[in-house]
Amino acid sequence: MSIFYNLLFLSVSFIFCTSSIAYCETIGERFHRETKHTRVQVLKDLIAPKPPKPSDFKEYTNKPKIKLPPADFRGISFEDALLKRRSIREYSKGAITLRELSQLLFSAQGITGKIYGTYLRTAPSAGALYPFEIYVIANNVEQLKQGIYHYSVRDHSIVLLKEGDFKKDLLKASIDQEMVRDAGVVFLLSAIFDRTRSKYGERGYRYVYMEAGHISQNLYLQATSIGLGSTVIGAFFDDDINRLIDVDGKKEAVIAVQTVGKL
Ligand SMILES: Cc1cc2nc3c(=O)[nH]c(=O)nc-3n(C[C@H](O)[C@H](O)[C@H](O)COP(=O)(O)O)c2cc1C
Repeated sequence: MSIFYNLLFLSVSFIFCTSSIAYCETIGERFHRETKHTRVQVLKDLIAPKPPKPSDFKEYTNKPKIKLPPADFRGISFEDALLKRRSIREYSKGAITLRELSQLLFSAQGITGKIYGTYLRTAPSAGALYPFEIYVIANNVEQLKQGIYHYSVRDHSIVLLKEGDFKKDLLKASIDQEMVRDAGVVFLLSAIFDRTRSKYGERGYRYVYMEAGHISQNLYLQATSIGLGSTVIGAFFDDDINRLIDVDGKKEAVIAVQTVGKL
């Protein structure tokens, strides 16, 4: 009986919301309204309960760690990279070198400074809270076993989490966008929301999405600058992608997938 009433309620709501007599706020509009800054809201936010801040760095202990070479690659100028940057979806079969991978990871989240005990990075972050963890799926990288790695920001190294060929899983999870299979590396930009929510509450989600864009553009420009091709991917099956790196999709979730391959 309750199924009948649920269906009836859904049908009536659908007809009501899609008719011209009513206007129902969409989930996106509601999110924007409820997280917008007004003078009153800013004060309310100050005293609103917030989640505790998780640790600044995610650590995988007891896993093989690989030190990356120094990120000292110097490519074309910033201005030329801006002019040249395009989303490139077709790659040659060449392997990405460890030096190139090192440079790409550094451009995404490398440490470039320290202030009052907080490490600062290549991409800006609201409140210097750095919600992102970067995972690398190595399809074809010189000197690296195929597998899924985590970027350890503090010591510029990578940790092998799962060894194996993940191209098929990636392809399925990325709605058959073939570039994830052909790219030498695929980056997963994964956010731990509570790092940002611990200070900014629900508005923090806006900041997290903005930061994914900063990191992605760093990867784009860096790839361009050192002669590689890249594309960011927003269209993927979230649960499938999250499962690859064993994150729950709630406390931590992949926000963007980005391919990099040889031209
Ligand atoms: C948030 C976002 C999501 C995107 N998702 C995809 C995607 O799923 N697949 C794809 O092929 N390109 C994707 N793109 C790349 C855009 O298609 C591309 O940036 C756009 O066509 C402009 O071309 P350009 O990057 O070469 O200047 C995405 C870009 C952004 C910023």
